[in-house]
Amino acid sequence: MIKPFGSDELNPLFVYDSEQHHALAAEAEGLPSLLVNSAAAANAVMLGAGYFNPLRGYMNLADALNVSEQMQTTDGLFWPVPIVNMADDVSAIGGAKRIALRDPNVEGHPVLAVQDIEAIEVVSDEQVAAMAENIFGTTDSNHPGVATFTQLGRYLISGPIQVLNFSYFQQDFPDTFRTAVEIRNEIQERGWQKVVAFQTRNPMHRAHEELCKMAMEAVDADGVLIHMLLGKLKPGDIPAPVRDAAIRKMVELYFPKNTVMITGYGFDMLYAGPREAVLHSIFRQNSGCAHFIVGRDHAGVGDYYGAFEAQEIFDQRVPEGVLGIEIFKADHTAYSKKLNKVVMMRDVPDHNMEDFVILSGTKVRQMLAAGEDLPQEFARPEVAKILMAHYQSEA
Ligand code: ADX
Repeated sequence: MIKPFGSDELNPLFVYDSEQHHALAAEAEGLPSLLVNSAAAANAVMLGAGYFNPLRGYMNLADALNVSEQMQTTDGLFWPVPIVNMADDVSAIGGAKRIALRDPNVEGHPVLAVQDIEAIEVVSDEQVAAMAENIFGTTDSNHPGVATFTQLGRYLISGPIQVLNFSYFQQDFPDTFRTAVEIRNEIQERGWQKVVAFQTRNPMHRAHEELCKMAMEAVDADGVLIHMLLGKLKPGDIPAPVRDAAIRKMVELYFPKNTVMITGYGFDMLYAGPREAVLHSIFRQNSGCAHFIVGRDHAGVGDYYGAFEAQEIFDQRVPEGVLGIEIFKADHTAYSKKLNKVVMMRDVPDHNMEDFVILSGTKVRQMLAAGEDLPQEFARPEVAKILMAHYQSEA
């Protein structure tokens, strides 16, 4: 199986040893504690799960700035997005060197992780803006990722962490949430040699389904890892339980048996387009996948990124040999009315745009909200039915 990113072995920061876990949980109750924001909590979950291997905790300011500018830490580790714990108020920490991080997303705010404090640094508005510009390509506060990032707080608390649980993800998505460790184990158990990973934050329509099938065939994979985001999304995106149900139905009815692993990870969507695509590829490598699909407007939002910018970054900004995982670059995929099947546009140069069935996300939402059936060329009817039930229950 492909090696993890940045090390020979995967080093998840979750404390697996039960005695150590017990001792750490007991210690944490006596430590000064900080209620972290959702972004920092999601980072802890990803670090705990091994997805952010080889990071050992939250970056300091020099690393965060370096990563945002040059995509590497001050030690020279390639990394695309700052992994930080930022807060508005650090008065509860006092002079403590070790603190308990409390979970904002679980009732009662249980301890999620314990952090050794390397430094608490003040981040200026200019530094926040510069980082936002580098990560998201804009400082426009209408961009949902920028809006979140610029409101995380102006104190940056760096240092290594030990993780005690996986927040709400394990409980809310028991069949779907997986750590990178679990995915590696399952790939091994299945005896798969080559796995292609598919990132998604949407219910999967026919284009998504076909992309997975095309990629599997192109790289001669034993299986596809459908790896859905289970964390927070911008308003209007479809909630994870509905997507999960829709994806399960599609796989059950339209994929050959034993070719798909339906899984999810606990992270909030950044909407950072190209930078997020690189982060996505790193954590799929950590999950044991040798290939990763990047299609049209990957991790994008609105018109902030060019349709294929998230592919171009791999050629322009990722040094040769840094990533073990290979990127399967997919062209715009849609149903062809001429050929009566889903195709990649680059494979049908004789087609015009009118030859395809294309619906924007906005149009799909409008149709579902109005109770109109989605065209069968666009969505599998069984999938569309699940989405319709969700929209009608919201109405
Ligand atoms: S994302 O934010 O997670 O990227 P989404 O779930 O819609 O959004 O997309 C998942 C993956 O499928 C991404 O790699 C995206 O680029 C790709 N994709 C989605 N729709 C298409 C399409 N019609 N043609 C080509 N690629 C697509």
